Amino acid sequence: MKNIVILISGRGSNMQSIVRACREENWGAKISAVISNRNDAAGLQFAKDAGISTAVLSHKGYPDRESYDRALASIIDAFNPDLVVLAGFMRILSEWFVEHYTGRLLNIHPSLLPNFRGLHTHQQALDAGVRVHGATVHFVTPELDGGPIIAQAVVPVMPDDDADTLADRVLEQEHRIFPRVVKWFVDDLVMLDENGKVVLEPEVVEDIGFVITGGGL
Ligand code: GRF
Repeated sequence: MKNIVILISGRGSNMQSIVRACREENWGAKISAVISNRNDAAGLQFAKDAGISTAVLSHKGYPDRESYDRALASIIDAFNPDLVVLAGFMRILSEWFVEHYTGRLLNIHPSLLPNFRGLHTHQQALDAGVRVHGATVHFVTPELDGGPIIAQAVVPVMPDDDADTLADRVLEQEHRIFPRVVKWFVDDLVMLDENGKVVLEPEVVEDIGFVITGGGL
């Protein structure tokens, strides 16, 4: 049974999609804890209601990023995680933290990386005039939104989209792709090798690109 710890900062809809899939599909895994850097993260209530341990650690009072990250890691490590999932955890992580969890730290980013790193990805996509946009699940490395890509979902950008409508379309796909990749990790079907490359077992290769068309495209 693998232990999974999920970090959130807000609504936690990706976390919820993983919790639900884990339960409905009887994964060989347990969501051991949901941890937030903000005590007003709405997702904490869902986790509590689901009987999952929760913790909050505010960054206030820590002199620098690494000292916060070390305190956070000591909370996370009390749950002996095989995997730490960043599900809308809105903090830049120190190199120490990322290296501490090398090969067992996953993130979802709401763009087709390497395009549109950082924040406001949907507006960035609209401003760039791209016709397709999407989401990426990747292993985390010290480079912000730069880690090795595991899977991506692609959605069309429609002429009348604004950042909100586009975000909704992408989010729907995040909720498909992220639980899928976490399950692969649980089943040892995806890993990071010592050269920093993603290794996929043959049975998942077909599913690494989700192309979602719609609106007449
Ligand atoms: C998602 O779009 C995720 O990709 C991004 O932040 C958002 C978090 O949403 N990193 P939620 O908290 O999972 O609902």
